Amino acid sequence: MTTVDLPLLPLGRGTDLTSERGVECPGDLPPASDPALVERARAAKEALGDRVFVLGHHYQRDEVIQFADVTGDSFKLARDAAARPDAEFIVFCGVHFMAESADILTGPGQQVILPDLAAGCSMADMARLTQVELAWEALEAAGIAGAVVPVTYMNSSADIKAFCGRNGGLVCTSSNAEVALEWAFEQRPDAKILFLPDQHLGRNTAVQKMGLTVDDCVVWDPHRPGGGLTPEQLRDARMILWKGHCSVHGRFSPEVVDELRATIPDVQILVHPECRHEVVLKADLVGSTEFIIKTIEAAPAGSSWAIGTELNLVKRLAAAHPDKNISFLDKTVCYCSTMNRIDLPHLVWALESLVAGTVVNRIEVDPETEKWALVALERMLSLPGKTHKD
Ligand code: 13P
Ligand code: SF4
Repeated sequence: MTTVDLPLLPLGRGTDLTSERGVECPGDLPPASDPALVERARAAKEALGDRVFVLGHHYQRDEVIQFADVTGDSFKLARDAAARPDAEFIVFCGVHFMAESADILTGPGQQVILPDLAAGCSMADMARLTQVELAWEALEAAGIAGAVVPVTYMNSSADIKAFCGRNGGLVCTSSNAEVALEWAFEQRPDAKILFLPDQHLGRNTAVQKMGLTVDDCVVWDPHRPGGGLTPEQLRDARMILWKGHCSVHGRFSPEVVDELRATIPDVQILVHPECRHEVVLKADLVGSTEFIIKTIEAAPAGSSWAIGTELNLVKRLAAAHPDKNISFLDKTVCYCSTMNRIDLPHLVWALESLVAGTVVNRIEVDPETEKWALVALERMLSLPGKTHKD
């Protein structure tokens, strides 16, 4: 039997949880009601041929994902972007930090386009370079900066990645956070980690994969003097977690896990590591979006799952696996509003502009930031292949 217990609200803008850049599209954005949009996107892609490579994150809308040459999580898309040096244009259907990473990893002759510049990420916005530099000064004042390896989640701006590259650290994604932390702790015997900007991925990985305890971790609050921590607390900690979170994954609760376990026989709870630690502790399986997809693909017919990740992906999994009982781990709609900003009108507009010889919404990282962010990204890409994906 198939029970798809998903909210039935239309795929609109979703709950407006995340920050938006308020950038208007110059030029003519086709109306969403245009019945020819699918045909227009197809024709523009065909006209561009191998000159364009369209990347689609798993959280994108169905109307957009159908035009992606490849789909993936942040880690896979970063690798895929780097693997197509021949494509003149990379159209990134995802959010701003992903397009920045693609620009850093692609060649100088390639241009990266984000169809809607308002597709930001509230988590990435929670760590600003000036705030991180202040935190670093506090670590220097506490006498421990030399031992601290900064690790930033992919979901951060290019200047935060550059900060990590410049200070001996690296980038990680939810697919390889464990190997990245292992690498960081190996840099010196007394190493500590400053983990940016997602406290939950940092804590979940430290406790579940690295054998640390919750008490080994402290939380640096950029809105409080001294991060809200004493120099002693900083000196005693193994992990200093930035106080950031994902507005989408932060909504899942342990109470709903309990409710679903009580109502769906043998349900397995499968969540993304951006979820809160209390939720992860109650889950059966935890992993990146690629891991979640592979787990459902490998699951036997008739098995029951409640999935804690972005709703576009969960709905797509439910539709693709009608022989499995797939539920969403939240009672209310939970799209990522900024991921959802990339819709078919914006994609058509970006592609047709390219056909007409105009590059719109180019994402370009400045050379100095790019140099150091690339150091941090390359450290990640050269980690041993112990990821969920490999
Ligand atoms: P991954 O793509 O690494 O699974 O991260 C999920 C996410 O929140 C992307 O914005
Ligand atoms: Fe950012 Fe969360 Fe949306 Fe990913 S799902 S883009 S982390 S707000």
